[in-house]
Amino acid sequence: MRWLLFLLLCELHQIWASSEASQGTVPFRCLQISSFANSSGWRTDISLWLGELLTHTWKNDSNSFRFLKPWSQGTFTHKQWQKLQHLFQVYRSSFTRDVQEFAKMLQVNYPFDIQMYVGCDVKPKSSPEVFLHVAFQGTEILSFQGTCWVPAPDAPQWVDKVCEVMNQDRGTRETVQWLLNDTCPEFVRGIVEMGKSELEKQVKPVAWLSRGPALGPGRLLLVCHVSGFYPKPVQVTWMRGEQKQPGTQQGDILPNADGTWSLQVSLDVVSGEAAGLTCHIKHSSLGDQDIILYWEVKHVSVGLIVLVILLLLLIGGGLFIRFKKPCSYQDIL
Ligand SMILES: *[C@@H]1O[C@H](CO)[C@@H](O)[C@H](O)[C@H]1NC(C)=O
Repeated sequence: MRWLLFLLLCELHQIWASSEASQGTVPFRCLQISSFANSSGWRTDISLWLGELLTHTWKNDSNSFRFLKPWSQGTFTHKQWQKLQHLFQVYRSSFTRDVQEFAKMLQVNYPFDIQMYVGCDVKPKSSPEVFLHVAFQGTEILSFQGTCWVPAPDAPQWVDKVCEVMNQDRGTRETVQWLLNDTCPEFVRGIVEMGKSELEKQVKPVAWLSRGPALGPGRLLLVCHVSGFYPKPVQVTWMRGEQKQPGTQQGDILPNADGTWSLQVSLDVVSGEAAGLTCHIKHSSLGDQDIILYWEVKHVSVGLIVLVILLLLLIGGGLFIRFKKPCSYQDIL
């Protein structure tokens, strides 16, 4: 449960960071999850994200990163990438060995999870912002600050020992500085350039209203569907006039097969009070032209009106034929 919280915090950081995307910053994140089942069993999975796009994965059973986008290599040459890949291969095996040694030395109980959250934000005008956080069982225990490892404020005592030992390894500290200060920003500048068209893609949502499942007598569930939009950030609100409605339920933003996103936001109301409610949709692809959908009680009976008109037409048509038939008999006779 705790590691979920850590992921959530990371996600929040990502949302906060992606709101900066419009100001020219695309956050680049590396997330590593390592599970140590016992003194010899472990697995490590790594994923790299550019904004909300997953660009690389490195699954435990693989020996290298997998490119998920045609532009995943950024502007790095094949040779540069090979060098990095090799560095990460060495890193992965020494990380595993070091953790196992620390666990033995500090008598940490198995199983446990370790997560790493690393990233850099390249800003157009100021110097890049970099970070590297490490969590144990979902709680941050230490981070890399400038040139060395520092325990988190509320970390358990044994983390001091871990940092002390890790700080004695100057080679690793220098490599981390090189990766964070130089490699990460350089890579990000290149990959942002290569992935520009996909990063700047904008697709407008399609939206409609429907009635949700019956909630019991006298109550109505109004559902506002927003689908097919890109990028992911979207704002969907149920309003009455200028008044935001409390009691809305927002689902998760779910992926569509074509890479766009969908969202449903519902509102539970007393049947008689549904008229006059509106669903407002704000999305970057729409500029300031928000989509506004009105819930009309009539809207439910549109189908009925169409049906009545169709029936009238049919009856009219039938009468016309019956009226005409005798004429033609007369013609024949
Ligand atoms: C990396 O950046 C940090 C500040 O974020 C600085 O303290 C450190 O000296 C830099 N290291 C190198 C090798 O450039």
